[in-house]
Amino acid sequence: MNADRILYRTRQFWQALGSIPTSEDLALVNTLLTKSQTAIFTQMQNSEQAHAVLVLHTLLDQHEDDQDLLVAALLHDVGKSRFPLSLWERVVVVLAKKICPGCVQRWGERDSEEDQKPHGWRRTFTVAVRHPAWGAEMAAEAGCSQLTINLIGRHQEKIPVFQENDLSKEDTLLLKLQAADDES
Ligand SMILES: [Fe+2]
Ligand SMILES: [Fe+2]
Repeated sequence: MNADRILYRTRQFWQALGSIPTSEDLALVNTLLTKSQTAIFTQMQNSEQAHAVLVLHTLLDQHEDDQDLLVAALLHDVGKSRFPLSLWERVVVVLAKKICPGCVQRWGERDSEEDQKPHGWRRTFTVAVRHPAWGAEMAAEAGCSQLTINLIGRHQEKIPVFQENDLSKEDTLLLKLQAADDES
């Protein structure tokens, strides 16, 4: 990733930090999510809720209307609410992801016991790597469709370029979610 892109993403992160969802945003969220899904949405930090709504708007602007995708947009980062990170921890993750994504992956991969209760200096990276799987579990408990659960669980998965001409419906939606997430 070049320096301009890193700068762009860092600026975007700072702007998102102070964001809180508006009452119109929350009304929109209520039209898409069930009561139990709204309950897990509101467990996220305000800035994460605002980010999720931004991802949703990016997809709606592209005239996406697949309900499973739209729900996944709102809940894709819900796993982060299990172990909320402080401001500086989130800054470290954003920068480390841009500079050395492989390091984040390595530092974040933990054994199953630590996975349940991340701690120490690797904690931030554990959350960065594990939150899709945690989010998928929470989405399942909140009664989301299997497709939404899969999209949440796979939202950081890289789809090989050679597969892009022969994609399943799930992979097609996953690429749309990832592009909107990256833009937001
Ligand atoms: Fe995420
Ligand atoms: Fe995200």
